[in-house]
Formats: sequence, C-alpha cells, structure tokens
Amino acid sequence: MTDPILSAQGLNKTFVMHLLGGRKIPALRDVSFDLAEGEFIALVGRTGAGKSTLLKCLVQIYRPDSGRVQYRDRNGAQQSLTEMGDHALLDLTERDFGYVSQALSVAPRVGALDLMLERAVGLEPEAARARARGIFADLALSPALEDVYPVTFSGGEKQRLNLALTLMGEPRMLFLDEPTAALDPETRTRIVDVLLARKRAGISGIGIFHDMEAVAHLADRVLEIDKGGIVAEHANHPCTV
Ligand SMILES: Nc1ncnc2c1ncn2[C@@H]1O[C@H](COP(=O)(O)OP(=O)(O)O)[C@@H](O)[C@H]1O
Ligand SMILES: [Mg+2]
Repeated sequence: MTDPILSAQGLNKTFVMHLLGGRKIPALRDVSFDLAEGEFIALVGRTGAGKSTLLKCLVQIYRPDSGRVQYRDRNGAQQSLTEMGDHALLDLTERDFGYVSQALSVAPRVGALDLMLERAVGLEPEAARARARGIFADLALSPALEDVYPVTFSGGEKQRLNLALTLMGEPRMLFLDEPTAALDPETRTRIVDVLLARKRAGISGIGIFHDMEAVAHLADRVLEIDKGGIVAEHANHPCTV
C-alpha cells in the first residue's frame, strides 16, 4: 500500500492567553490520523471542539506544540511540515495546499475577477480569464459580481469567492473550514458538486462540515472531534449520484 498523502501524529496545541494571566486553553490533544491519496475526510463536532485548530495545525498556520505532520509531495518524497523552515513551507503549501478559511481576507479595492487572475498559474491571460469565469459560474457567483470589490459581498458570496480563489490555483489537497456554512440549500448543492468533481479528479481533502448532506456526498471517512481529540471515526460511502 502506498504511504498516506498526509499523516498527523500526536498533535497537541494549547493556547496561552497572555492577556488573561496566562490562562491555558487546551485545543488539541494527541490527534493522530492518516489520509490516503484521493481520500476525503470530514471533521464533525460541536463548536469549540478544536476542528479549526486542527485544520490550521495541519497546514501550519498554527504550529502545534508537539507532534508531527508528514506530507508526501508530488515527487513521492516525505516532507515533515512541522520541522520545515518557513520559506520552504510557504513554497510547498502555496503550491500544493488549498486552505479555505471561514473569513475572506483580500486586498481592498480590487475586483473579484482580478483577485482570481492574480492566482492563475502558468496560463495565458485569456485562458486565465476563461478559467476564472468558469469557476465563478460553477460556484453560482453572478457575472455581475466579477468587477465588484468583495468587501461589499454577502456572507455566502464571500465564502464562495474564498473557495473560487483557492480553486484558481491547482491544489493537490483541499483544507476546507465550513465551506457550505452560510449558503442556502440550492447553492450548497452546487458547492458540493464542485468539490465532488475535484475529488473525482484525484484531489484529496479534509473539510469541516455541519451539513450532514455534504458529508454524505463527499466524505470517505468521518472523524468526530470533541474536546480537542478524535472521539469516533466511521467510514462513509459517498453517494455517487
Ligand atoms: N487563536 C486562538 N487563541 C486562543 N484560543 C483559541 C484560538 N483559536 C481557538 N481557540 C480556542 O480553542 C478551542 C477550539 O477552537 P476551534 O478550533 O476554533 O473550535 P471549532 O472550530 O471546533 O469550533 C476553543 O476553546 C477556542 O476558544
Ligand atoms: Mg471552527
């Protein structure tokens, strides 16, 4: 069997609130799991359980206090993300990882389509524009929003632009923090379809979902997180229709 594409081994993270007399908030406790290439894992659990912290510790937005994250790169080489220097880490994660947070953070006074074009890799301008417009349409973002500054977007539009920006690159892995949270049921289905198409194209992923329909369609495996640890795990057989 091939090695997993991603392996988390004994991750721990405690936040120290310096402004509150050094109060400690344990957020991750000894989290270990493997993700096979092409697999999609759903993280579920109540708010405050540590799901977002886990995602951030995987992509190294937060450095875990202890434990390792191993990633098998495009050449099959094992990379220890937890031990890598910042520059090498940034190069690797910018190219290979698509991390979609809950908040949109983009340059002000740049239109949505231009923001997407900035993320195009190795495409001629016309091809980049066509790709950006295609992703926009796939995510049910109106063409009328293309030249609008995203600061004025609704919550659901911001969330979809966040995903659109990530899909403009060619990530090998997706890390999604509640990508369908602010959406109406019809738009949710659209997003799940887009993610499913990526999955079928071979992309691996980890996503936090409260939407059990999305989980049923997308996930091969579900990890339930509570109080910073994995408390249950079960296989899911994604519907394919
Ligand atoms: N940057 C931070 N500083 C301090 N505490 C944090 C920070 N991020 C998360 N926490 C705390 O860690 C715990 C887990 O949070 P989080 O991972 O966001 O949970 P979830 O995504 O499951 O809702 C919570 O108690 C939260 O308050
Ligand atoms: Mg969260």
